[in-house]
Amino acid sequence: MINENAGSVRVRVPASTANLGPGFDTLGMSLSLYIWVEMRRAERTTVHFAGEGFEGIPADKRNLIYKVAQLVFEEAGESVPELEIGMRSDIPLTRGLGSSASAIIAGMAAANALIGSPLSKERLFDLATGLERHPDNVGASLFGGIIAAAWDGERADYVRIEPPQALKVLVLIPEFELATSEARAVLPQQLSIQDAVYNISRSSLLTAALFSGRLDLLASAMRDRLHQPYRAALVPGMEKILEQASDHGALGAALSGAGPTLLAFVDRNGGRHGELETFMQSVMREHGIEARALWLEPDLEGAVCETGSRSDLFPELIKGEISS
Ligand code: HSE
Repeated sequence: MINENAGSVRVRVPASTANLGPGFDTLGMSLSLYIWVEMRRAERTTVHFAGEGFEGIPADKRNLIYKVAQLVFEEAGESVPELEIGMRSDIPLTRGLGSSASAIIAGMAAANALIGSPLSKERLFDLATGLERHPDNVGASLFGGIIAAAWDGERADYVRIEPPQALKVLVLIPEFELATSEARAVLPQQLSIQDAVYNISRSSLLTAALFSGRLDLLASAMRDRLHQPYRAALVPGMEKILEQASDHGALGAALSGAGPTLLAFVDRNGGRHGELETFMQSVMREHGIEARALWLEPDLEGAVCETGSRSDLFPELIKGEISS
């Protein structure tokens, strides 16, 4: 991820969906929605936002991108105290699409590129997982594709799986926000051995099915008893959608990360995409909830440095600029 034209670097990082049903805090997949971050050395720190959706996000040294950049510099033994940062994002916030993980990876990847990429992707993964406390979203955003990962508190081991070519993704993004902390607070502290075995077997089967392209197994392999049943009360309509999505053309369905977004996998060569979208939307509406449906692709690249791209995130006067 070295930008040969250094001076300024620009990275593009995908959104992600975590868990994929049973793989709680373990499985993740990157999605074709993106955040772009540009970064360069400056005399004083400024953060520019291009586009909508940044209300309430600090535009000074409290900004997450600035903070994670400093973490990278510290780890690399470099000092770059003042930065000009520009960002644009298509990833909805607090919806279960890994927006904070994407921002962390974008800040880290840009900072690392700015100083000549001294840190490996694996080191960035460990640093990012240390912040998020689980590797599923950050791993998918960093490496692209599907990630199976385990975190021991210091190190994240992972395997990247190339998504089956036929896999296409429908996400249904409710209009309301759901904080991850809230969605984690409803989880039980203990599980029965039956439920633990239920999840281990589905998660293992799902990983193997994705690895070998056995899309016919997804409907049963994406079932979960660890988090989704407890989170159902927070996402009206979720239970019915997960139960019946396969009857309307889905290969499998799950809560995306901590929610409230719902995710369905489909075979891109199948023919019932419209029926599935209509079904999911109508269930949400039965509960009085408006939701945005998006058809996405698995992203295959993860975090990339867009070398040679013309800078468009550093106009001299973007509305919202605040200097620290
Ligand atoms: N695995 C996490 C969870 C993803 O389900 O809580 C949310 O960031």
